[in-house]
Amino acid sequence: MQETRTLLVTGGAGFIGSNFILYWLKKYPESKIINLDALTYAGNLANLRSIQNYPNYTFVEGSITNKELVDNIMDDVDAVVHFAAESHVDRSILDPGIFLQTNVIGTHILLESALTNNVQHFHHISTDEVFGSLPLNTPEAQFSETTPYDPRSPYSASKASSDHLVRAYGETYGLSYTITNCSNNYGEYQFPEKLIPLAITNIMDGLKVPVYGDGMQVRDWLYVQDHCTAIDLVLHADKSSNTYVVGGLTEDVPNIEIVKMILKIMGKGEDMIEFVTDRPGHDKRYSVNWSKIKTELGWKPSVSFEEGLEKTIHWYQENRHWWEPLKAANQEFFKKNYSK
Ligand code: NAD
Ligand code: DAU
Repeated sequence: MQETRTLLVTGGAGFIGSNFILYWLKKYPESKIINLDALTYAGNLANLRSIQNYPNYTFVEGSITNKELVDNIMDDVDAVVHFAAESHVDRSILDPGIFLQTNVIGTHILLESALTNNVQHFHHISTDEVFGSLPLNTPEAQFSETTPYDPRSPYSASKASSDHLVRAYGETYGLSYTITNCSNNYGEYQFPEKLIPLAITNIMDGLKVPVYGDGMQVRDWLYVQDHCTAIDLVLHADKSSNTYVVGGLTEDVPNIEIVKMILKIMGKGEDMIEFVTDRPGHDKRYSVNWSKIKTELGWKPSVSFEEGLEKTIHWYQENRHWWEPLKAANQEFFKKNYSK
């Protein structure tokens, strides 16, 4: 398919955003990407080194909360793909204010600018966490596009708010939009504060893996490349004002089992597990029914969890130079988070 649109990708130096840019420019070399990223602790231009001199790629360092900057960039943009956010639940518990600034105010500034600049389409990347928490051991209970919102952490409340703003701009002002609410991603370039990369890198450093509470909480894991293909299909679907939920697993795997799988692949024993104080308001279970995107757009995950986990572990083993400085620079956060 010929793809010549100019995309404004926000948060393209983060985990999913950088995987998406690499995916998109490989598949659609005629397309242009402007990457607007504030380079917070989570943004890392090393992820994009392979395309940094590519003529169709432009990086702009700055915040989505800077209205003047956003207005200047939006001029030449056909579609916005909005990833930029504060994304870590534990950080939102320690310091919620920045989550409201970036995730709510930042999204509002982008929407306003997209509208006034007649941008053709706005795609908003959101999360399944906006739907709240499902009970454990209820396989029939799943999130879908019609599940009522019930966010329970400052992070998910800020993401829920941004989803509502996107829909409000569609309904009230006619802005063409789509939203994807995706489950937990894992894979290359994920900041080593999230469970899977934290576990892998701790094990590599001979440190124990902190498991919150009893470790029986459940997440619906999706390999990041499969998230990119879902966004691609949605960006090419002829459906505005539409939402898709995106998920990965077909059965529940509790956190403790994920950690045991990682330990097994890495040849280490379960004595490396350390149960620590639970996360306040910890959501018990996420599970996504992604039949709408499967039926309407033909999407399904292509990588099994076992395969994705092995690829991810291998990547972190080969790329210590990528994650080691990030962990070293964030010791203050780790100390604060795990000394509760
Ligand atoms: P991340 O934390 O790895 O990256 C976020 C990026 O946004 C970073 O590059 C950061 O520098 C940038 N950023 C932060 N504040 C900014 C600002 N004010 N202006 C411009 N850029 C800013 O996050 P991620 O895991 O890649 O998540 C990307 C998006 O996907 C987020 O919207 C998140 O809510 C959503 N999401 C993530 C997951 C997941 O499992 N990681 C799952 C579902 C949805
Ligand atoms: O569901 C999608 C969401 O997934 C995204 O919107 C968020 O941006 C992303 O961070 C992720 O949120 P979680 O809170 O589910 O991910 P995290 O990796 O932080 O935690 C996964 C599970 O593991 C959760 O139940 C908490 C637990 N956990 C996490 C850490 C960091 C631990 O037991 N120990 C830990 O040290």
